Amino acid sequence: MLQTVHVELGERSYDVEIGPDLLKQSGARIAPLLHRPKVAVLTDENVADLHLDALRDGLAAAGIQMSSLALPAGEATKSWPHFERAVEWLLAEKIERRDVVVAFGGGVIGDLAGFAAATLRRGVRFVQIPTSLLAQVDSSVGGKTGINAPQGKNLIGAFHQPSLVLADTSVLGTMTQRDFLSGYGEVVKYGLLGDAAFFEWLEATGTDVFGGDMAARVRAVTRSVQMKADIVARDETEQGDRALLNLGHTFCHALEAATGYSDRLLHGEGVAIGCALAFELSSRLGLCSQEDPSRVRAHLRTMGMKTDLADIPGDLPGAEALVDLMAQDKKVIDGQLRFILARGIGQAFVTSDVPREAVLSVLEDALATV
Ligand code: GLY
Repeated sequence: MLQTVHVELGERSYDVEIGPDLLKQSGARIAPLLHRPKVAVLTDENVADLHLDALRDGLAAAGIQMSSLALPAGEATKSWPHFERAVEWLLAEKIERRDVVVAFGGGVIGDLAGFAAATLRRGVRFVQIPTSLLAQVDSSVGGKTGINAPQGKNLIGAFHQPSLVLADTSVLGTMTQRDFLSGYGEVVKYGLLGDAAFFEWLEATGTDVFGGDMAARVRAVTRSVQMKADIVARDETEQGDRALLNLGHTFCHALEAATGYSDRLLHGEGVAIGCALAFELSSRLGLCSQEDPSRVRAHLRTMGMKTDLADIPGDLPGAEALVDLMAQDKKVIDGQLRFILARGIGQAFVTSDVPREAVLSVLEDALATV
């Protein structure tokens, strides 16, 4: 069942291994990267409780010793104080230039540990062992690392590619249903942005992926990672095509800001709602058929996911305020909002040519149902 996706980036190329029980093989897989049998693991307290013993055993099976630092779980950890703590711990552990740091957790730990590795001694290598669906299909691949600033999310960081990614799909079994479905929002995004056949497969099989069918989970993660790897290989630093990965994100970032980055709306939930809104906008601009947004929303509903603005608990600001929040997105160029729109399912493209009135009207109608 084990799958390998190669991310082709010249001398920064690496493999993403995907399949069940990879933690058991972690030592054998990491050993070829090491100059001495020792790694430093950054993780969070929840992941440490659930899975750190399995990682320690997997590493020990290949004679590798590990030391670990478990930071608090949650987005607040992606901040200067915890970054400082992580880097100082790595220095105290005497991690050298040729050593390897392991990021063992979800997107928060992957981003923070990757950024710590990018800056420690001007850059040490790191291995991503993502433990959430969102991290396995998105944040562990592609080398975006960083922390949040008071001014916004992910505003401080670096591109620093991992040397290896081990996506153990067995570990997903300990996720809450809500967190799993949030990560599934990113899986759906891949079908919508570039692979209509994958979206059709998700329509038919998504409930199996959710229900725990391991072969289906491996296939969903593998296809998502393949798509991301292809895009990152074409455009590592997001000068063009990589922006396709932000389908649904312009709406999502405004909604996340409007809900205070709280658990009223998880990132992948915002992505799913954002994808539905991006297809609605595309349809109103005459780019895709009217059936496409209905089909997107039908699949999200079937999966029991947040689909509409009405699914977000609490009050939301008006349409004008939401568009203003979009304008603060860090992907704005020369003040122009950038949207990922679609000519159909699996046919996304990047454009700055979207009339503000069209965005306002989509949001006004969506808010009218709240
Ligand atoms: N999550 C979007 C990207 O990696 O570019």
